[in-house]
Amino acid sequence: MSKSVRKIFLVAGARPNFMKIAPIVRAMQSRKNSRLEWRIVHTGQHYDHEMSQSFFDDLEIPPPDYFLEAGSGSHAVQTAKIMVDFEQVCLKDKPDIVLVVGDVNSTLACSVVAKKLLIEVAHVEAGLRSFDLTMPEEINRMVTDAITDYFFVTEDQGRKNLLKEGKSKERIFFVGHVMIDNLLYQLKQVKQMEPSIFETSRLKDKLGKYIFLTLHRPSNVDNLATLAKIVEALNSIAQSTPIVFPVHPRTRKMLEQFNLELSDRIFQLPPLGFKESLFLWKDAQLVMTDSGGLQEETTGLGVPCFTIRENTERPITIEEGTNILVGPGMEGIMAAYARFQMGERKSGRVPELWDGQASERIVEILERI
Ligand code: UD1
Repeated sequence: MSKSVRKIFLVAGARPNFMKIAPIVRAMQSRKNSRLEWRIVHTGQHYDHEMSQSFFDDLEIPPPDYFLEAGSGSHAVQTAKIMVDFEQVCLKDKPDIVLVVGDVNSTLACSVVAKKLLIEVAHVEAGLRSFDLTMPEEINRMVTDAITDYFFVTEDQGRKNLLKEGKSKERIFFVGHVMIDNLLYQLKQVKQMEPSIFETSRLKDKLGKYIFLTLHRPSNVDNLATLAKIVEALNSIAQSTPIVFPVHPRTRKMLEQFNLELSDRIFQLPPLGFKESLFLWKDAQLVMTDSGGLQEETTGLGVPCFTIRENTERPITIEEGTNILVGPGMEGIMAAYARFQMGERKSGRVPELWDGQASERIVEILERI
């Protein structure tokens, strides 16, 4: 006989996970007579205040029930540490379902631990594939989906990829995107706030027109030749349009190690909280990024986006949204920017079910299964 109450662990470890669990927590909290009892598990993959706590505060996520303090390290060390600690929590608190989001090391580590303890796994943002196995995230996505029981999919390509891999269609649920749920919720708040509350308000006013940049992929920042080319392109672009650049800790470290100088028209900031960052990029002329989430969020709000990568696991942002793949090479970035300067804009539309209701759909399905 199935239990009437089901205990579910919501796992988050790194910055891009936090915005995905925030709306799921909200949807769970708002349900009356729910049979789901939930716990938040923070693996501690990200731990700096700007990378972690500030997101819990900004996104209104309740304090985690478990904080595992995994910290940084090589992939093997980090993944192993999360697995060892997460196993203890599972053995102690015995969840029925472990829900993981996205594609970071915590996603892989916790899904593997759960499955081996015969706990069901639900994966939010399942089925995305870049087909680029040099990306750690691609390996995380493939391994997680190989053992997932319930696939929550953000775009049709995700469903197609999973079917091609032989997953049963009864277990695939096209629900839209929790990232967009969070974005729309936060946007409403940011619009109601006094601009002067934001620390970057004066900078924003002073610049008027600007590009918003994020950069942290190992394939872009860990290699001197690649990063030097990107920096050269950015320094050149900044001469015509200033660039606002919150710098990820990995990128800060590599810029220093390689001794690369950024133009003084590139305004470097520490990693920003979610609202502060949204306050800036929503009004940018252009976003340049190698992040997965920002490719989708810019499509969600119709802001032009250049993705500094060769490929994307989120093809709908290209097919329907405002995203353009420009690659990490100097020529690709400069050519795309020249076209942008000439007034060429990609008209985009918001993809199906990116309507702010994905978390509600997920929780409803979890109640049923
Ligand atoms: C991770 C995710 C990536 C995601 C990114 C968002 C994996 C494989 N990668 O990459 O998919 O897009 O988060 O940020 O899971 N560091 C700090 N403070 C922190 C965390 C990290 O200073 O709070 C530094 C450490 O020196 C660390 C480096 O940043 O070595 C990289 O951190 P890590 O968690 O290994 O990967 P990310 O590059 O952040």
